[in-house]
Amino acid sequence: MSDEQSARKNAVTMEKLVNLCKRRGLVFPTSDIYGGLGSTYDYGPLGIELKRNVKEAWWREMVQFRTDVLGLDSAIFQHPRTWEASGHLQNFSDPMVDCKKCKQRYRADKIQGDRCPDPNCNGELTPARQFNLMFKTFMGPVEDTASVVYLRPETAQGIFANFQNIVDTQRVKLPFGVAQIGKSFRNEITTENFIFRTREFEQMEMEFFIKPDTAEEEKWYRYWVDFRFNWHTKYGLQADHLRRREHGTEELSHYSSGTTDIEFLYPFGWGELEGVAKRGSFDLDQHAKASGKDLTYFDEDAKARYRPWVIEPALGVDRSMLAFMLDAYDEDVVENEERIVMRFNPRLAPIKVAIYPLLRKGGQPEKAHAVREMLSKHFTTAYDQAGSIGRRYRRQDEVGTPFGVTIDHQTMEDDTVTLRDRDTTGQVRHPIAALVDVLNGKVGWAA
Ligand code: GAP
Repeated sequence: MSDEQSARKNAVTMEKLVNLCKRRGLVFPTSDIYGGLGSTYDYGPLGIELKRNVKEAWWREMVQFRTDVLGLDSAIFQHPRTWEASGHLQNFSDPMVDCKKCKQRYRADKIQGDRCPDPNCNGELTPARQFNLMFKTFMGPVEDTASVVYLRPETAQGIFANFQNIVDTQRVKLPFGVAQIGKSFRNEITTENFIFRTREFEQMEMEFFIKPDTAEEEKWYRYWVDFRFNWHTKYGLQADHLRRREHGTEELSHYSSGTTDIEFLYPFGWGELEGVAKRGSFDLDQHAKASGKDLTYFDEDAKARYRPWVIEPALGVDRSMLAFMLDAYDEDVVENEERIVMRFNPRLAPIKVAIYPLLRKGGQPEKAHAVREMLSKHFTTAYDQAGSIGRRYRRQDEVGTPFGVTIDHQTMEDDTVTLRDRDTTGQVRHPIAALVDVLNGKVGWAA
């Protein structure tokens, strides 16, 4: 393990996390019963709650709390000319080589030398060829070249294609952003590291339109890099597991004149978590040229018409979940027993509160069901009456449930319960009638 990798503060490995995700219903390999598909994953009952919360955290901070960003949900299928104009048909490719012996395909930039990296094969490799990453399919009943469409490889183009619609209908004034969350598809040559790189994934992207001016561009570029960095730490990533890395010119995407990656320290080393790019007016210019539409903005103050420039923060939902899970993972000892505890920020935790009757008699289960029903109107809940109370706590610790409510003898007398804290394991008594307010103060979005 390199120094960088050992710098991680917790005991997590990819293997431990993948096992936990499968065992507890966070993430399953797609088509598990057929041996998996290898490059896509399904989110189980707990995974989907975590995913919803990650998207909610992004949407609230990027759209809801702001007056300068609007939302959009564009289609996955766009007009095929979109991808011609955006440059994806021509440029969105990776260099790949094939092994002549075992027929495996590799990304040329990920291997060294001219032999197959599989030590059991060591076959000769073909020269590198460009491989377009877009998935192609046909729209309508006829499978001919006229009906070819692509699954979008980024959500961004749906935003650029709607620029005029937004300007015409929303009374926007520069600078303003348009944000979108949705699926993207890339026929990646190599998929790797669980949900880090897959062929079907979700993105949270925002195009922030600004005046075409270098000083403005620099200001907003720095602003969004910092804003996005702070979002990750606010919701649970350790600042020392994050760093900013500026792309070298040879690395830049075809549309970018500057990109900063916010990188995360995964167990397999530093890697991209999110990218913040200067896209200039590249996309609007290209779509204006291809569609014959104007796609300009009229600046009332300057009495001038121009195409705005763009700063784009773009984050993968799945990659963000991976980072949050890796940093939440912890192992400690409670009452002489080892436990795995996912220390999620309470807002991201799949289940907010678990309800346990101490005994399966004396009216406690009925009371616990009533409490669960009351709390479920406000929070995601779990009910557990199986096994010792210690084991039940561990089960919830392992999926990061921040609070547990225990119904005991005293509850039956005075309508109070104990509230257990996942991190401190401390317990405090509260009246049932106060629970919603107490919990809202701890796990509510506004807390
Ligand atoms: N619109 C710009 C854009 O798509 P990108 O760097 O290619 O930029 C943005 O992608 C983010 O989407 C990445 O930082 C990463 O979080 C996520 N992402 C990209 N490809 C992915 C893949 N194959 N699997 C999972 N997430 C991916």
